[in-house]
This record gives sequence, C-alpha cells and structure tokens, in this order.
Amino acid sequence: MSNYHIKHLEEYWQVYRKSVRNPEDFWEEIAEEHFLWRKKWDKVLTWDFKKPEVKWFEGAKLNITENCLDRHLATRADKTAILFEPNDPGEKAQHITYKELHARVSQFANMLKDQGIQQGDRVCIYLPMIPELAISILACARIGAVHSVVFAGFSATALASRINDCDCKMIICSDGSYRGTKTIDLKNIVDEALDNCAGIKKNLVVKRTGNQVNMRKDRDYWVEDLLANAATTCPATIVDAEDPLFILYTSGSTGKPKGMVHTTGGYMVYTAYSFKNVFQYKENDVYWCTADIGWITGHSYIVYGPLANGATTVMFEGVPSYPDYGRFWEIVEKYKVTQFYTAPTAIRALAKEHLDFVEKHDLSSLKVLGTVGEPINEEAWHWYNDHVGKKNNPIVDTWWQTETGGIMISPIPYSTPTIPTFATLPLPGIQPALMDEHGQEIKGNQVEGRLTIKFPWPSMARTIYGNHERYRDTYFSAYDNMYFTGDGARRDAVGYYRITGRVDDVIIVSGHNLGTAPIEDAINEHPAVAESAIVGFPHDIKGNALYGYITLKETGESRRQDNLRKEINQLITDRIGPIAKLDKIQFTNGLPKTRSGKIMRRILRKIASNDTGNMGDTSTLLNPEVVQEIMDNALV
Ligand code: WT7
Repeated sequence: MSNYHIKHLEEYWQVYRKSVRNPEDFWEEIAEEHFLWRKKWDKVLTWDFKKPEVKWFEGAKLNITENCLDRHLATRADKTAILFEPNDPGEKAQHITYKELHARVSQFANMLKDQGIQQGDRVCIYLPMIPELAISILACARIGAVHSVVFAGFSATALASRINDCDCKMIICSDGSYRGTKTIDLKNIVDEALDNCAGIKKNLVVKRTGNQVNMRKDRDYWVEDLLANAATTCPATIVDAEDPLFILYTSGSTGKPKGMVHTTGGYMVYTAYSFKNVFQYKENDVYWCTADIGWITGHSYIVYGPLANGATTVMFEGVPSYPDYGRFWEIVEKYKVTQFYTAPTAIRALAKEHLDFVEKHDLSSLKVLGTVGEPINEEAWHWYNDHVGKKNNPIVDTWWQTETGGIMISPIPYSTPTIPTFATLPLPGIQPALMDEHGQEIKGNQVEGRLTIKFPWPSMARTIYGNHERYRDTYFSAYDNMYFTGDGARRDAVGYYRITGRVDDVIIVSGHNLGTAPIEDAINEHPAVAESAIVGFPHDIKGNALYGYITLKETGESRRQDNLRKEINQLITDRIGPIAKLDKIQFTNGLPKTRSGKIMRRILRKIASNDTGNMGDTSTLLNPEVVQEIMDNALV
C-alpha cells in the first residue's frame, strides 16, 4: 500500500483512517519520501485554532522550485513541463521542457534580483495566460520573494487596492492580452492603477500583443531587454517551511478583499499530494486545467501541484468560444489530454451549443474529468459525462477554496463511486464536520449543516495579510476550535458530502467568488444612489447572477432609469471588473430592514429567485410595506 498514491476504494479508506488517527505521522511520511528538503523539520505540526496559529514542518528548509524543477532534471529534462497553447490556433504552440523551464525561471530570477527584489519582498503579477506568468511566479519563489498574482480581468482600481494592501514594490505586466477576437491594453490599466501606488518602484513589461504603450522613464522596463543580461543559472534561495510563498486575494462578505497568505512547505506537500490522487496522474499523461492562474485553481493545479509531480501541464491563453465552441475539444484532441479540469459555468455554456462541436473531435485520450468552483447541477453533470466523457470517465467534483490552498473534498477517480452533484468524500488528512446554528456538531448521516473543518491540513492559509484579527474572526470565531468554510453542506446516507452553497454574503458567479459589500460600495458611489443591496439569483449558465435593488435619492430620477443602469454597471466595471456587473437592476423606494437597520437579504433573495411562496418570518421588519412594492415590480 502506498499512502502517496491511492489506487482503489479500500486503499482510500485505509489511508484515510490512518491520516485521521495520526495526522502528524501521515504527513511526515509523505513529506519525507516525496520531496526535496535542504533541512528536515524539528516538528511536524503546531496548532491552536484559538489564536489561530498553524505551522507545518517547522524548522524545515527548502525551495519549492527545486522540487518543481531541479529535481526533475535527472530523469525528465526533455519532458514537456508547460505546453502553451496560444489564443489564436494559427500561432505556434510552445512545448517548454523541464530543462528549458528551469533555465528560463533561473534567468528571470536573476533579473528580478538585478532589479532589486529581495527575499520577502512582495511582487505583483498582472499577466495574461502566457508562459511568463508561470515563469515569473516560479522566479519569485526561486529567490524567496512573495508573489501576489492579480487576475488580469480586474480593473485598475481593484489592482491598485491589491498592490497597496500588501505593499508590492514591483509589478510585472504585459503590453496587452488576447482573449478571443479582443485585444486588451493591460499596460494602460496598470498605468492608471500605478497613479495611486506610490510603493511600486518598477513596472516590468512583457511584450505580447505589440500594441502601442507609453513607457514611463525610470519606472517601466521591457522584460526582454532586462533578461538579455541575466544568466540562466540561479541558486535557489533556501527558505523556511513557514515562510510565505504567495498572497492571493479573495472577496469577503464585508470590507476589502482578503489577502490570503500561503506558506511554502505544507502548501507544496498538500498540492502535490492532492494533484497526484485526484487526477491519478501517471508519467506520460497530459494534464489540462482551463482555469486562469490568477485564481487559486491555477496556482495549485496548473503550476505548483503538477510541476511538483513532474507532470506536463497545459496552459491555454484563449477562451472556449474562439475561433468556435469546439476549441476546448480541439485542444484535447491535439495534445491527447488525459485529465481535463474545468468549471461548471464553462460546461453549461458549451452545452448550449451544437453537439457537433464536441462530437467531431476525438476525445478518447481522456481518463479523468474534473469540475471546480461552484456546485455542478445535474444537467451539466450529465452533459459532461455523456458527451465529453462518453460515460467512460469518472468526474471529480472537487470542493475547496482559496483559503484551503488545495482540494478538500473530492472523489478519487477509479476508486470512489461518484454520484452527480456530490463532491463525495474528504481527501486524506481532511476532517470535515457539519454544525447546527447553535454551534453543535451534527453527527450521523442524512443531515445538513454548515461545513467546518476540525483539524489543520498542510495547505491552509496561515493568515490574512496585515490583518490576523480578521482571519480569526472570519474563519475561527463562528465555531469553537473549527475552521468555518462559509459553505453549507449535506451528508447523505453513505457519508458523501454535497455542497449546497454559500451561507454568507458571498455569491459565486461563473465560478468567481464575489462579495456583495464591495459591489454595493461601488454602486453607492453613484451620486443618484441612496442605498443598494445585491443578491444572487439562479442563472442557467453562470450558476448565479447578480440582482441589484437600488434606492435612488430622488424618485424623480426614475425617468433616466436605463441610463442609470448603464452608469451603475460602468462604475462596477471600473471599481472591480466586468465579472461583477449586475444582470438585473430594480429601483425601489426602500429596502426591507430589521429594526436594527440590517437589510434582510433573505427576502430579497427570494424575490430575485421568484420564490415568494413562503417569505419566512417578516415580523421583525421595520418597513414591511416595502416588500409588497418590491415584489410587484420585481424583474422576474
Ligand atoms: C467557494 C470558494 C476552489 C477554487 C475555485 C474557487 C465554492 C468551490 C465547489 C464545488 C460546490 C464549490 C464554494 C467555496 N465551490 N468548489 N466543487 N462545489 N461549491 O475558489 O474563489 O475561493 O471560492 O467556491 O462556495 O467556498 P474561491
């Protein structure tokens, strides 16, 4: 039996039981046998969820890029590490071998050092899905700098607030990016952001689209020029297991985005371990995750997890609909992809198109299909299973979060029998629990509650950058001695978990985690707006879409309503990005509030979902009359 690679259900249970009985021994054995450490740990785990404090492999020293690159050179130097597929199918793909990737990362790392970056410095990366994105991430890790990748779909304001929150001293961007038929001038967005980022000393620009950009003297530099002088060997900076590897922002239900801090040793062990098992990766497989590296899915399962296993990982620059809706399947056929990992929203969008787009491609190389980011509905699951998997591939519905660093609940393909819409069982080392509203654990099966995790796992985020108190309040204060996920879940008769969705004010739109508060803040900036409330409602492609209830300062304004809708969505696009735009905007004369002035979103959610049969208890409302008015004018 191997703890590292689970091959059947019985083995899963054996490994799982062991991992729970003695987590320290379990993770120690895996860390010892499968990774390269410059010095072993003094202690496997220190934890206290009250503080909260979690440390894995304390005292150990390593560099994660030695694990992802150097140690493969003896046996996999000429194997493709990153297979880059450009937006335009006419442009040549790049097969970057482990040897080449090692050289390019080393060169980039030397260049960063030449430009003044030192261990512990924060570097913002704002790049499209091009090889330089993975290379710059790894180059930071090579020298112990902390990368903070910001998804290149975020606006200048959102970018600036993330840069300033963690005091980045450098940004790496590109002149532009390609998305389908569009070219986006990323450098212009960065210029706008940097007007408000005094801490940024240098902006390194990768040339991608060749569009006209303004290079500001003594701040902006072309990466290709700087690289010309850099050597292609660079000793790895040896860091502590608990040194930060990266910061990645995620929305909260209130306040500004949270900079989740992930550390090095535990993150490496867990992402590598979960990648190996959830995708059953074998040496000559070609693995493809369609996420953007700007999200945690890309960090853990395009870059670190696959490379730590010496895998071939596909990086796709484009979109599923360009040049046509068969693009994903064309790529699967072209590279004989064996594991394919995507989001339910992408599946739903493709399922709306003609079946020819799928059927004309040979998908027989596929062995495992995965989904992530939101609950997958039954219809989408069956379409994926029937038309992509040909009823022949297990589907792994993987539940996890930016905060968890790695996949937490998921089938092990070819081991765990799957049921549509169920994430099924926890991975080894993961101890979920369901809680009721009184803070009591709900034991037994066929129950539903709030999903918590009882025991630390190696890849959990250690803090929120600059705000440990908020980390404690958000994740460790709802239940005693538990990590609270913010999700609800059901446990069925055999103990399988099914995630039912968020129980807080975070809404998952097209797999993107959006907090209502920052969107409401953007709307409230509009001079005509008095107040607003955002809720989610079911949408057949996006999973959820956003419904805004907005009260104007003067009702007379309502004549301009269509213009106002446009202006409000433009404000949201400017402040956050187009992903946060509202699908529906209803102007109201008030919002339902409790006596203490809290907006009752529960009621607004029901109205937006056209589910007004039972409104629940409205007796605590200060202004019940407004509910009827909102219902009468609802956009459903
Ligand atoms: C939230 C985390 C994990 C990487 C992408 C999203 C929802 C995630 C599933 C799933 C049902 C899911 C949860 C979670 N979610 N995966 N398989 N089934 N819901 O990361 O942006 O941090 O969002 O996404 O609500 O809390 P994220």
